[in-house]
Amino acid sequence: MAEVQSAFEGAGAVFDMVVFGGGSGGYAAALRGAQLGLSVALVEKDKVGGTCLHRGCIPTKALLHAGEVADTAREGEQFGVQTTLAGIDMAGVNRYKEGVVSRLYKGLQGLVRSRGITYVEGTGRLVSPTAVEVAGTRYEGRHVVLATGSVPRSLPGLTIDGVRVIDSDHALALDRVPTSVVVLGGGVIGCEFASIWRSFGADVTIVEALPHLVAAEDEASSAMLERAFRRRGIAFHLGARFSGVETTDEGVRVLLENGAGLDAELLLVAVGRGPASAGLGYEEAGVAMDRGYVLVDGVCQTNVPTISAVGDLIPTLQLAHVGFGEGIMVAERLAGLDPHPIDYDGVPRVTYSNPEVASVGLTETGAASRYGADRVETVVYDLAGNGKSQILKTSGFVKLVREKDGPVVGIHMVGARVGELVAEAQLIYNWEAYPSDVASLIHAHPTQTEAVGEAHLALAGKPLHSHG
Ligand code: NAI
Repeated sequence: MAEVQSAFEGAGAVFDMVVFGGGSGGYAAALRGAQLGLSVALVEKDKVGGTCLHRGCIPTKALLHAGEVADTAREGEQFGVQTTLAGIDMAGVNRYKEGVVSRLYKGLQGLVRSRGITYVEGTGRLVSPTAVEVAGTRYEGRHVVLATGSVPRSLPGLTIDGVRVIDSDHALALDRVPTSVVVLGGGVIGCEFASIWRSFGADVTIVEALPHLVAAEDEASSAMLERAFRRRGIAFHLGARFSGVETTDEGVRVLLENGAGLDAELLLVAVGRGPASAGLGYEEAGVAMDRGYVLVDGVCQTNVPTISAVGDLIPTLQLAHVGFGEGIMVAERLAGLDPHPIDYDGVPRVTYSNPEVASVGLTETGAASRYGADRVETVVYDLAGNGKSQILKTSGFVKLVREKDGPVVGIHMVGARVGELVAEAQLIYNWEAYPSDVASLIHAHPTQTEAVGEAHLALAGKPLHSHG
């Protein structure tokens, strides 16, 4: 930031809150804390906005949107529009992506400035339960909020060289469309990049150790995504374990434990993200940790009373919006308010691939183990019956999971743009709505939200545009 306050200016003061890390979790804590009248120092070694803004959510969704534009150009004929895809100008795509990031970055810098937060640029270290040190200067706080985030993980013996074997940071910075890629890991990052590169014309093969893509989702959603990816020509090996990678003249040969060898220009490693906590002084300050994650209670307080922690650093869902929620909750608690602990099941989850996968609440399996299989009811509303989805030529479904005679406890969706439908789904889950509550609401026609309404009509025993 241009008007970064020098380390010297902040020295000597005791802040109400020293926030260590300026990503989604940290900057949300800082902004909310300042709004509540706390004096706040925010320490960041790179750029405020962190992974989400610079290396995660925002740039990948820009690439996914460029992919959607490419698919639309390629498929114009299906709608009677004469378009052809002449090609992908990756420099142009990257300019567009960087334009989005830089506008948001400017806006965020302005917000931090306008709230009177002391922004400290530099690499910090926790040096006591109440202080972070940056370039020899101690920033003392009544409270410290750890928010140093996460980094891409690799596997033992697998070296990410950034050229042929890359992680998501390298993938975002790529200046060309690869001809072929093997994606190791069929989770959220793996499926989103597979989708992007396929839209841009690459040959893509996913290798996933578990029996399904996006395995944390309801099995029906995984199966639907697999069907859609197969139709799009994205190859995948499920239940396949990686055994090694060799470099070849053309790129890499990825070896699987079953003896198969997959040749490609690049290998993207997307096997999860791990906490960024090593060497930052956490253990020395007495903070309880588990495999690098900082452990917290239901309101993000660590075992050290002056230290809280939020975001990817703690073992909750690694999502930017979870970081926002945790940061806000901690700031409110430190300001003397009494915020509710977060119900993590009620956090919406979206994979922004083509098609999108979105969900909130429990999967059918999760509900069965919580309530007992005979206490769970489900309904699947096929997007084939939804006018707007037919107009968009997308297929998929809305699946509801309900506790028998009780509220809706899970909503799972697959299809184009269903990420936007999760807003209504999260109200239904979090307000513990019954199917009949939602069935009585009239949904606008023709929209995809109608599919949410129709699924509830069906579950309430009065289906309109579906059999049952
Ligand atoms: P992930 O945990 O979602 O997926 C990693 C996948 O790699 C798993 O399915 C796992 O079974 C597989 N895997 C691990 N070891 C393997 C091996 N040896 N061989 C084959 N497969 C193996 O992690 P991912 O996709 O890297 O994302 C990291 C975090 O970032 C996640 O928590 C995710 O939620 C978050 N994220 C969220 C996004 C969103 O909300 N749209 C977008 C991107 C990331």
